[in-house]
Amino acid sequence: MSTTFPVSQEFTGVAARETRDRVLARVERRIHEFLAEERRSWAALNPDSAELIDCVSRMVGSGGKRLRPAFCIAGYLAGGGDPEAQVVVDVAAALELLHTFALLHDDVMDDSGLRRNEPTAHVLHSTLHSERDWRGEPRRYGESVAVLAGDLALVYAERLLVDCPPHARRIWGELCTELMIGQFLDVRAAARFVPDPELSSWIALFKSGRYTVYRPLAMGAELAGAQELQPAFERYGLALGEAFQLRDDLLDAFGSSDVIGKPAQLDFKQHKMTLLMSIALRHEAEVRELVGDDLTGADPERLHEVLIRTGMRDRVEAVIAERIETARAAVRGALDPDWAAELHTMARQAAYRDK
Ligand code: IPE
Ligand code: IPE
Ligand code: MG
Ligand code: MG
Ligand code: MG
Repeated sequence: MSTTFPVSQEFTGVAARETRDRVLARVERRIHEFLAEERRSWAALNPDSAELIDCVSRMVGSGGKRLRPAFCIAGYLAGGGDPEAQVVVDVAAALELLHTFALLHDDVMDDSGLRRNEPTAHVLHSTLHSERDWRGEPRRYGESVAVLAGDLALVYAERLLVDCPPHARRIWGELCTELMIGQFLDVRAAARFVPDPELSSWIALFKSGRYTVYRPLAMGAELAGAQELQPAFERYGLALGEAFQLRDDLLDAFGSSDVIGKPAQLDFKQHKMTLLMSIALRHEAEVRELVGDDLTGADPERLHEVLIRTGMRDRVEAVIAERIETARAAVRGALDPDWAAELHTMARQAAYRDK
């Protein structure tokens, strides 16, 4: 592609956003139609099997910010990609289904009862097992259904990528691997419970930031044939990706369940070694005293108070603010000004969200 920015002649900043939102609306339809067709064909073969597809549909239909499709489409359009093309719709839909897979499994791993203000899949199916008076352990049944629904969502993501060109497909392979390794390190760090801020930052990026921001942008640019944007997207995506997960950690620690739609303070209960906890344990004797070697035993109210009073929350806020500046600087000058401005807006929305 040329060094001029093909979209800039046609779109103002607002038009750029509107174009992205129109593509996003097609992504919604694509996912919905794909799942509806699957349901139809499986229900015809065996009505019970539709329950597993419904479990995927229920998660997709329960809302969510659709950040991964939005970053993929933004990367694609900023790179001059054709807004009418189908491939970007399929790839963005695949990213949302991959996210669906990640959430279904994550809620089992984190033993979480709430997602997007609804009971999580494993809890719902465990309840159904009890209500139906079935045999075996309800919890084990519920978790089995959630794991299988997650697997199915991942397979659907793969199927949506059937026309994805090989270069973008390679990025997808990296993205999936990073996500799994990141999640493994997250549960491992919780089990070990040794404060290590560098490792915590690394985990935030791998379990979440890379698959949420950097890799979707990179796939979008690759689909548009805009390889020259990759260095700027890498700097932007890594910085914002980390800020995104640090906000998630702060929302967990200080937010309320009604607003975030997930159980608040679950990271404390699951003794997650978030960056907040790593920094606090390493630098504050008062936190070490309160937590000891078992975060689950600490009184969440007191922990809150101490984390705020000792400036630990502010330290994480400062890291977020610094990452947003890095992200903004990365795209300024490297992109069409409308898209640079829009990506800065998207960065602020992702890093300063309230859920
Ligand atoms: C939640 O992601 C899981 C993480 C990677 C932290 P989002 O905050 O994007 O969740 P939804 O899709 O909007 O619900
Ligand atoms: C999970 O991180 C990231 C993935 C889903 C891969 P969290 O465990 O912090 O996400 P939430 O807080 O449950 O959404
Ligand atoms: Mg979780
Ligand atoms: Mg988790
Ligand atoms: Mg979280």
